[in-house]
Amino acid sequence: MPTILLTGAAGYIASHTWLALQAAGFQVVGVDDFSNSAPEVLNRLQQLSGQVPVFERASVCDAAAMQGIFGRHAIDAVVHFAAFKAVGESTAQPLAYYRNNIGGLVTTCETMRAAGCRRIVFSSSATVYGDPQRLPITEDSPLTATNPYGQTKLMGETILRDLGAADPQWQTACLRYFNPVGAHDSGRIGEDPRGTPNNLMPYVAQVAVGRRAQLSVFGNDYPTPDGTGVRDYIHVVDLADGHVAALQRLLDAPGSFTVNLGTGRGYSVLELVQAYARASGRPVPYQLVARRPGDVAACYADPSLALQLLGWQARHDLDRMCADSWRWQQQNPNGFTTPSAP
Ligand code: WQD
Repeated sequence: MPTILLTGAAGYIASHTWLALQAAGFQVVGVDDFSNSAPEVLNRLQQLSGQVPVFERASVCDAAAMQGIFGRHAIDAVVHFAAFKAVGESTAQPLAYYRNNIGGLVTTCETMRAAGCRRIVFSSSATVYGDPQRLPITEDSPLTATNPYGQTKLMGETILRDLGAADPQWQTACLRYFNPVGAHDSGRIGEDPRGTPNNLMPYVAQVAVGRRAQLSVFGNDYPTPDGTGVRDYIHVVDLADGHVAALQRLLDAPGSFTVNLGTGRGYSVLELVQAYARASGRPVPYQLVARRPGDVAACYADPSLALQLLGWQARHDLDRMCADSWRWQQQNPNGFTTPSAP
């Protein structure tokens, strides 16, 4: 079976994809610099897969290190997760985001080309749609970026498109994630945000477990059924399966593609809060506050192209997303900072 290099391999979506690829029979090599992830993830992956992870500690911006990795491993394709991903942080530190997210992608592609590896799956985001004018969102919807993080995703897609135009041997798959949530049903890996969570579900999880007093609901005056923001939450295990399906297509058929990875169903903030309270059996107190700058009212996918091209569709519903998130939160109140028992 082919060998796949995962960059950012110890991260939230990458670690779940690692397990899904192994389950599908792929050989996996992970690379991560732990700038936004924890070495403990590798122990958990070994516990879950029964295999010692093949891992290289390096930055994707380090050309020499990346050349070394491609020299030691015969890589057939790359899944490129390595990137900073906090919208607010990107506005405060644009250079760090362009250096890491764009520089890291370019270095990875240059190293791939030198090694004769020209298949890449790129972790993109629904953020490239900006404030959607039409819902549900299809892949041909207008693209715009409203923050440096979104710019790096838009530029990343452009870089890969230009690469394929210059050298048709390149096969690229851009996967536009909607809102990844949940955790592996073992409760051993999950989302481990550093500091105060920016995203809704990890914040709600910390309120439910008592680590935070209450949730601030950013605006209830949007043109949505209950006035709060509507998003397309997708279980991280479904997202991981989407990567396996995308890789399989790159290996089985010529050409490149871009697809939405979402459920096609939008849920409001208050609907998610109520679902989490049901799943956890805990109250989730909240207060209504002003809108968060840059937020859009509603954003959810038309996922039909992924079904048509990849035979993939999301299988987990919101209750399952909340239940799996809650199990991870309960078992790991401090995330990966507490090493698991030997
Ligand atoms: C969801 C809803 C908030 C927190 C962002 C990035 C996107 C992707 C996912 C990386 C909104 C509301 C949130 C809170 C709240 N990241 N909310 N109180 O903003 O849709 O997407 O994360 O790939 O690129 O843009 O996700 O979870 O931050 O917000 O009321 O404490 O929850 O207003 O309506 P978002 P989110």
